Amino acid sequence: MTVQRVEPGGPLRGRIQVPGDKSISHRMLILAALADGTSTIRGLSGGDDVLRTRRILEALGIRTFEAAGVLNVHGGALSPAKGPLDVGNSGTGIRLLAGLLAGMDFLSVLDGDDSIRRRPMDRVLEPLRAMGATVAGREGSDLAPLTVGGGGLSGIEYRLPVASAQVKGCVLFAGLSADSPTTVIEDRPSRAHTEELMLATGITVDESSEDGLNVTTVHPGRPEPFTHDIAGDPSQAAFWAVAAAIVPGSEVVLGNVYAGPARLGFVEVLQRMGAHLVLDPASGDMTVRNSELVGTDIAADEVPGLVDEVPILAVAAAMAEGVTTFDGVEELRIKESDRLAAVESQLGRMGAEVRVENDRLVVTGRPEGVGLRGVGVDSHGDHRIAMACAVAALVAKGPTTITGWDAVSTSYPDFYGHLQALRNGNRPEVADRSADEGS
Ligand code: S3P
Repeated sequence: MTVQRVEPGGPLRGRIQVPGDKSISHRMLILAALADGTSTIRGLSGGDDVLRTRRILEALGIRTFEAAGVLNVHGGALSPAKGPLDVGNSGTGIRLLAGLLAGMDFLSVLDGDDSIRRRPMDRVLEPLRAMGATVAGREGSDLAPLTVGGGGLSGIEYRLPVASAQVKGCVLFAGLSADSPTTVIEDRPSRAHTEELMLATGITVDESSEDGLNVTTVHPGRPEPFTHDIAGDPSQAAFWAVAAAIVPGSEVVLGNVYAGPARLGFVEVLQRMGAHLVLDPASGDMTVRNSELVGTDIAADEVPGLVDEVPILAVAAAMAEGVTTFDGVEELRIKESDRLAAVESQLGRMGAEVRVENDRLVVTGRPEGVGLRGVGVDSHGDHRIAMACAVAALVAKGPTTITGWDAVSTSYPDFYGHLQALRNGNRPEVADRSADEGS
């Protein structure tokens, strides 16, 4: 376990390119593996989560070749792996791959780290069972390690019990191998990458909105080989957006950020809080300047569009005037860590006033007019908690030490390098967008 010390300091200035979007990266790899021929992917996320998905596809017989930040994937038929497939810390990896592998006529074992073994997998195993897949979890429960496979799937109509793009993605990937179309119905739309990328790679997908419900139907088939440039990850941009908003004198440009559905909830919330944040829809460039923030109320309906940004928005809230409430955030309990408990305890240690009330998070900004203080905090093994604490540390009194900093490598290995570059006010180039970074 590594420890990172973060000193408070002066303004952040300059332009950075955040890593390629993690959600898109997983899906592009899986689609490339299914396409019969060579696909080319640029800007793949360099984090360990995505690297694991790539290695798993290689273990299933797919060849990949990376040079100068460009990954070629030679897709086609998958073959049984020689051993268990280790997703590491990646919930997206295990759930999407479960959907892919359910449709294969061989069995695979999917496993991951301690956090993955605690996270609920019934949410994907239930629909896969309904489609006729052979699936089983540990000790009769639905926890990883999972056995998945069997093939012979039937299309189903499935209404998601929780707003989850991972579950939607799992069912739609399984649907590619079913004998008839598969429909997923959502009450609250989650990120749309699976359907967007399936459509872009030649798969037939029907999308509609009925009685306020989001309905997506995928037709069985295989993608065509493709070339795709992955835009920057908005969930990573959010850390710098909040950092620039709260550190006096800052002005940061985040280049080419993905600006699609259900990913930019944090932009709207920060703007509502009074942040100077401008997003150029044509280039995806996001410019953020320091400003005074005020508290806001975030409704449960908004949460699917900012589910990964709650920890960093809690940091913004701690520095805002007044109270910020986050409603309907119970899903945060079952992320890489219990993020509600981690935000409450770790930002609390730094002097923020954070309360969890059942499925609600309440942050009272600037307690007694005093800012945050630098102390020792713990990442809880969760990249987003570590990075949120690092941003809070920039405006704390005294240095902060973050134990379990290595968790950051799952999604953003060069986070600290980018912080130093922004402190120097220079313009780091996109050195980190090659597929092999973090390996
Ligand atoms: C993701 C969906 C979200 C998000 C995760 C990535 C995806 O999870 O938290 O980081 O790529 O589909 P849920 O589907 O559990 O909401």
